[in-house]
Amino acid sequence: MNPPAMPIDHCVCFDVPFSVLKQYADARPCRYEDLRKRFNCGRGCGLCVPYIRELLRTGQTSFPVRDTNHHESDV
Ligand code: FES
Repeated sequence: MNPPAMPIDHCVCFDVPFSVLKQYADARPCRYEDLRKRFNCGRGCGLCVPYIRELLRTGQTSFPVRDTNHHESDV
């Protein structure tokens, strides 16, 4: 049995907590591209991008690890 995965709560490549992104986005109209320009998040491996887009939609700052082998087109 595998240990539970750590929640995803920051951009690992640039060490940017999602809470910081939320704080920035809550203070102004903001799209993912604005966060990317300001914090570099998503410019490395890109794995944080779907989580950041969800943060902007929902305000959530911590996410369970997604199955990267699952694609919406598979549904
Ligand atoms: S985790 Fe954000 S670019 Fe790699």
